[in-house]
Amino acid sequence: MSSAAKFSLLMHILCLTLCSSSLYCHAFTSQEYSDALEKSIIFFEGQRSGKLPSNQRLKWRANSGLSDGSSYHVDLVGGYYDAGDNVKFGLPMAFTTTLLAWSVIEFGDSMHGEIENARAAIRWSTDYLLKAATATPETLYVQVGDPNMDHHCWERPEDMDTPRNVYKVSTQNPGSDVAAETAAALAAASIVFKNSDPSYSTKLLQTSMKVFDFADRHRGSYSDALSSAVCPFYCSYSGYNDELLWGASWIHTASQNSSYLAYIRSNGHTMGADDDDYSFSWDDKRPGTKVLLSKGFLEKSTEEFQVYKAHSDNYICSLIPGTTSFQAQYTPGGLLYKGSESNLQYVTTSAFLLLTYAKYLNSNGVVVTCGTSTVTAEKLILQAKKQVDYILGDNPAKMSYMVGFGERYPQHVHHRGSSLPSIHAHPDRIACNDGFQYFRSSSPNPNVLVGAIVGGPDSRDNFSDDRNNYQQSEPATYINAPFVGAAAFFSANTNH
Ligand SMILES: *[C@@H]1O[C@H](CO)[C@@H](O)[C@H](O)[C@H]1NC(C)=O
Ligand SMILES: *[C@@H]1O[C@H](CO)[C@@H](O)[C@H](O)[C@H]1NC(C)=O
Repeated sequence: MSSAAKFSLLMHILCLTLCSSSLYCHAFTSQEYSDALEKSIIFFEGQRSGKLPSNQRLKWRANSGLSDGSSYHVDLVGGYYDAGDNVKFGLPMAFTTTLLAWSVIEFGDSMHGEIENARAAIRWSTDYLLKAATATPETLYVQVGDPNMDHHCWERPEDMDTPRNVYKVSTQNPGSDVAAETAAALAAASIVFKNSDPSYSTKLLQTSMKVFDFADRHRGSYSDALSSAVCPFYCSYSGYNDELLWGASWIHTASQNSSYLAYIRSNGHTMGADDDDYSFSWDDKRPGTKVLLSKGFLEKSTEEFQVYKAHSDNYICSLIPGTTSFQAQYTPGGLLYKGSESNLQYVTTSAFLLLTYAKYLNSNGVVVTCGTSTVTAEKLILQAKKQVDYILGDNPAKMSYMVGFGERYPQHVHHRGSSLPSIHAHPDRIACNDGFQYFRSSSPNPNVLVGAIVGGPDSRDNFSDDRNNYQQSEPATYINAPFVGAAAFFSANTNH
């Protein structure tokens, strides 16, 4: 039997076992996971800033932000709005891009017809990041839009008239966190385009190295440089060491250039290699770095990477109930629970790391030791599946947390464009304050933001489908990005 066939059979058996023991059983079919995959990528079209192409599938959106950067004489058109507002925040955008690329790197073979759409979603961001990184020497543009002014309005991106301030980090005002994450995104994307567009790939990798060098030579946190423009929205709470190590790890992975191996060797221990840390997000990259570098240890026995494998095991074990190292919190319905705000971001990143680690373990024939118990790759896959299935509707509320998927899904998503009438249906401008009547309306959003995964339910599995409750009802690009890889995996490894 091929390993793919073995996997499929195994998933089938696991599924039957799960179904007989679960009160909320709803095993999704391969076709349903494919549908979720397609939708998870379409969502990114709803977040697009700039001039939309003719093959745009979310038709209710139109061009926006066409003069972004012009008052500063730089072209910063394009990129993504992070969530339900109209600001282009560099740190979450770059992290989103890194994880979209990682999804394709690990699970692109399972994406079939969606691979082109996945690459397009990455390129929408990397085209922008390349401009932001190369417009001015020793400068990285990291944000467009004044978030405080933006948040005072409820406006469609197409109507936006709030200040499109441009924020940058430079040698005098460094931002090693945002710069190293941008380097990580460009390096990871260079792997994605290596075969399909080699010259673009080379450009991405070369730019990545330059941006990383800038991040490393001029150290500081962008939260200090930009203060109220980025905090409390995307404050770099974890500092910049985690991004420097993550950036170097991605460039090492993409280039195999020994300089970056040397960098990881000499800086790893001061940049978080020895920490145990249980939350992987746009802010904190440590668990992701460990899983990524553990591949080097597993495949090439790179001895100095053993520490990353050991700490990956700790992270993975923390998620598996029944082991002595278990320390995560789950809701009664079985959802990983980290916090009340946008909890599903942690669910999708951890599901992605479980599947990625399972892949590395499987291809090297190893298991994880959690205290006294042995945890197999299959167990990690099952744990990830529970999380993915919960998101898609296999949960006590019988509610899909992906917009447009299944029969019941959030109708009052905290998202300006989705909740206001489309510019095509209502061409007249809806000014800043006039939008709030739509915000307060109890009617469902007029435009379906297909594929958006929202913040999700609380620690008791309760969800209030309320636009005002942004903690639960707001989508974000970094919630979806790792889900793209997870959905691809299950679409290809579900035998019914
Ligand atoms: C490896 O990376 C270093 C640092 O960016 C660079 O100076 C060097 O030219 C690279 N080597 C190769 C072979 O690309
Ligand atoms: C939350 O869920 C619990 C258990 O299902 C239920 O008893 C409770 O009333 C719910 N709370 C709210 C505020 O809806």
